[in-house]
Amino acid sequence: MLVTGATGRVGRVVVDLLIDAGVPVRALTHRSEAAATLPANVEVVTGDLTVPESLDAGLRGVGTVFLVWTAPPTTAPAVVGRLATYARRVVFLSSPHQTPHPFFQQPNPMAVLHADIERLIAAAGLESTIIRPGMFASNPLFWWAAAIRADGVVRWPYGAAETAPVDDRDVAAVAARTLHQDGHAGGDYVLTGPESLSQAEQVSIIGDVVGRAIRFQELSPEEFRSETEGSWPRPVVDMLLAAWGATIGRPAFITSTVFDILGSAPRSFRQWVADHATAFMEGPTPSS
Ligand SMILES: NC(=O)c1ccc[n+]([C@@H]2O[C@H](COP(=O)([O-])OP(=O)(O)OC[C@H]3O[C@@H](n4cnc5c(N)ncnc54)[C@H](OP(=O)(O)O)[C@@H]3O)[C@@H](O)[C@H]2O)c1
Repeated sequence: MLVTGATGRVGRVVVDLLIDAGVPVRALTHRSEAAATLPANVEVVTGDLTVPESLDAGLRGVGTVFLVWTAPPTTAPAVVGRLATYARRVVFLSSPHQTPHPFFQQPNPMAVLHADIERLIAAAGLESTIIRPGMFASNPLFWWAAAIRADGVVRWPYGAAETAPVDDRDVAAVAARTLHQDGHAGGDYVLTGPESLSQAEQVSIIGDVVGRAIRFQELSPEEFRSETEGSWPRPVVDMLLAAWGATIGRPAFITSTVFDILGSAPRSFRQWVADHATAFMEGPTPSS
């Protein structure tokens, strides 16, 4: 099996779980220095999704690919064509863009890209399993951890917007299961965490777990746009604002799919925070 995105949040855990299941794994890295984060008993190959021919060596002899796409869209048709030349099956990390909940039905360039790649996979005749997680529980590491460590104030829009954060480890566990267990061809799985929590509640849970009062300071969408100007891509900011704004007044969409596939309950957001608490505590920035 070839795991792409093997050094990322989901792919890195997929690699470990496949090794634990006794599956021979090849891990694709894009930056060769990232290979140091992978276990010694995994075969590492380098390749770049923006340079389709660079994937050939990694694809030789592979039957199944875990596909994570974080590159620009241009080379997706050529890459999926190459996957179909070598492999029989793809498990694709996508998003819930077909789910009829306002949160998932706003303008979203990532959703457009995911839908395009799904169409390419189907047209190439590959057997597929589509994994569609909602908001990752780990997003607060990138969104709030620095502010919480600095002064304990999270300046953020739409505090009342509810999401059901799904633990990246549960996403990886479902992906790994569908990669190494039969019966998931054609599977289309929307994954969420177990509970609907407003963004302000999520901040409050972090405060509870780390034993520190953290203040949620509501920003208007315009204030958020200007605070993130230059440091966040504008399409990402617009996409998030539209999704949060559209979900105000509604609970998040929740599925039982993690339990249905794994036979164990999805991890709660509180559990995720407890397992990553040091990232929110005062002191130097943790390395991961
Ligand atoms: N965050 C969320 O809430 C959320 C929710 C639903 C779906 N998703 C989807 O999840 C996916 C991201 O997964 P993730 O968070 O596990 O990834 P991630 O942690 O952002 O890691 C990105 C991975 O992509 C690799 N990569 C980057 N550019 C590449 C290129 N040009 N060629 C080959 N590999 C490349 C990186 O490899 P190197 O380290 O070698 O550079 C790394 O392994 C996206 O498609 C996103 O839309 C995210």
